[in-house]
Amino acid sequence: MQLPITTNPLRIGLRQERVIPPQCLVIFGASGDLTHRKLVPALFELYKQRRLPSEFALLGCARRKWTDNIFREKMKESLKGKVSENPKEWEKFSSCLFYEPVDLEKPNDVIELKKRLEEIDRIKATHSNRTFYLSVSPKFYGSGCRSLSSAGLLSDPKRSRIVIEKPFGRDYRSAQELNQLVQSCANENQIFRIDHYLGKETVQNILVLRFANTIFEPIWNRNYISSVQITSSETVGVEDRAGYYESSGALRDMVQNHLTQMLSLTAMEPPGHFDPESIRNEKAKVLQAARLADENEPWNCCIRGQYAQGGSELNPLVGYREEPGVDPNSTTETFVAMKLFINNWRWQGVPFYVRTGKRLAKRLSEVVLTFRESPVHLFDAAGGSPTSNQLILRIQPDEGAEFRFEVKAPGSGMKSRPVEMEFSYDESFGEPSDEGYVRLLADAMLGDPTLFTRSDEVEAAWRLYTPLLELIEDSPWQLPIHSYESRTWGPSESDELLARDQLLWRRP
Ligand code: BG6
Repeated sequence: MQLPITTNPLRIGLRQERVIPPQCLVIFGASGDLTHRKLVPALFELYKQRRLPSEFALLGCARRKWTDNIFREKMKESLKGKVSENPKEWEKFSSCLFYEPVDLEKPNDVIELKKRLEEIDRIKATHSNRTFYLSVSPKFYGSGCRSLSSAGLLSDPKRSRIVIEKPFGRDYRSAQELNQLVQSCANENQIFRIDHYLGKETVQNILVLRFANTIFEPIWNRNYISSVQITSSETVGVEDRAGYYESSGALRDMVQNHLTQMLSLTAMEPPGHFDPESIRNEKAKVLQAARLADENEPWNCCIRGQYAQGGSELNPLVGYREEPGVDPNSTTETFVAMKLFINNWRWQGVPFYVRTGKRLAKRLSEVVLTFRESPVHLFDAAGGSPTSNQLILRIQPDEGAEFRFEVKAPGSGMKSRPVEMEFSYDESFGEPSDEGYVRLLADAMLGDPTLFTRSDEVEAAWRLYTPLLELIEDSPWQLPIHSYESRTWGPSESDELLARDQLLWRRP
């Protein structure tokens, strides 16, 4: 018997998307890794979902002397299986791809770029709506904006935007300088600073969970929550990015941006409206109230680590210092754990523990809110002490949320035991979420800055970590690097950071 085709009721009404206006997306750094791995696959996805307008063009730009056809071939290679699954879609999509060799430092190249854009406007009817995506080395962000501005390519704030990849600055001062430079070329509402974590469905879900449900808001504060843990752990090592990573390290690569964004969404006040400025005001405010747990002696609240060898006999893993391109005496951290406080009415006294690392035991990103213990323990816990209630927001993988609480253990006694109540995106909605870049590229072309970081947010995030960055620069021995075996949960000192507060990191 054939079963009737049913629609998952939870999916009804999804895909009522806003319409992207006619558009030419210009990617600088089109021969680079990000374009291949993330940007073009995300655009192809938007194309397949019919979310790109028919008047759409992608102009790839880089220094290499490629032609349109070479660019199309290269992009086809990066889409691999997706092209063979959708050959007709690829045919049509690839006719929207163009390439122009451009060195933004060379005025003549920028003049040629302008001519090419005018030609694309004519053949693709893109109406001079342009989104310029700087996927280039950060040292060219400022000069790139200046070149585009001098050529008059940013002069219409309604039609032109710039998307800037991370890292936006190296510290508070350089971020301030870069902000000033970029803002002298374009209005703040034309500037889209990307943090790809904000494109993740489950990161956005932190807002919905908090502000679309009445049950959470009354308990989302220091009266009920005793601590918050934010973890983003990776199993991969530095891969082939030693050149970049050696001058960055985990603090700049992950903490200042991705983990801090998760922190601000978890801790911010409810905005008055769901509009970009109301949300970004609250995010900036909470970051301005955040402090290292011990600003005067920051070494007391931060642990740095670096992965050593590990793995198994079958799959041995080299240590960070043996990775290709890494200085054998490198003191770059691949792991950071730290304790923060937020000095405002809602969070006074509640520790926020943040941790990230490469080559850890498991790939996961999550926010764990631990609630205060019940004031009196009426029941014995089956197998140990009673656990505190926990709300776990699973950002990735296995996206969803779970709530841990105590129930009566079966049997004649009155023992309690923790159980979990679960929500899984996959089980409920039955379709994988889009990659973060799909959402962010669409939003940038729509001119919606909600999921992009504003200048004051970026600066507040850098300012928060300034005492640590200065310490690493001026007296690194005060914040030593602790070695940890690959595929473990980092150095034991990170456990001690929590043990001092009689706490443990969650081990999923
Ligand atoms: C990037 C970092 O921003 O985020 C990488 O530069 C890191 O080092 C990556 O691996 C992690 O992103 P995701 O989405 O895989 O958690």
